[in-house]
Amino acid sequence: MITLAVGSDLAQIVTLEEEFTDARWSARTWAEELVADRALTLVNKDRWGRLLGVATFHWLEDVADLNRVVVHPAHRREGIARRLIAAGMEWAEQVGARRVLLEVEERNSPAIRLYEDLGFMVLARRRNYYGSGLDALVMELPLESES
Ligand SMILES: CC(C)(COP(=O)(O)OP(=O)(O)OC[C@H]1O[C@@H](n2cnc3c(N)ncnc32)[C@H](O)[C@@H]1OP(=O)(O)O)[C@@H](O)C(=O)NCCC(=O)NCCS
Repeated sequence: MITLAVGSDLAQIVTLEEEFTDARWSARTWAEELVADRALTLVNKDRWGRLLGVATFHWLEDVADLNRVVVHPAHRREGIARRLIAAGMEWAEQVGARRVLLEVEERNSPAIRLYEDLGFMVLARRRNYYGSGLDALVMELPLESES
């Protein structure tokens, strides 16, 4: 089930980040994210309240940013990230965004495949964005409906 993240989700989000990813985001970053303005953090939990995934978005004027998405390794390839991002894109459209942007490390093929699957296309490359030799791809998905 996908719901808005609340403060009591923080501990599980941090565990997911620290135990199962390259831990790009600190506990403090996640804590700030949960209370940020113009932001949306969504969680996917199982029936027992265990966190299976989290995704967070920001919005400014016509652009929404997908800032982070993480799914528990035991529940990957179940469509959880796809559903979290779809829910975030619905929110982005409702608040008036016309496109979604994101940065992804160019070696992160699962994430790139996910974003391509959702229709994102590469817009640019940012050299050394994640550190020396670690480039980012900037990807974009227009939200405008075809007319
Ligand atoms: C990237 C990540 C979020 C994907 O989450 P997920 O819930 O497993 O993704 P989904 O099940 O929704 O996948 C949707 C589609 O994305 C693509 N995809 C996702 N993971 C893939 C992989 N490992 N290999 C190839 N394609 C993949 C597929 O097209 C997939 O559809 P399919 O399963 O029907 O073939 C997950 O691997 C993760 O948490 N990685 C660590 C954190 C991270 O790198 N986050 C992204 C940067 S913030």
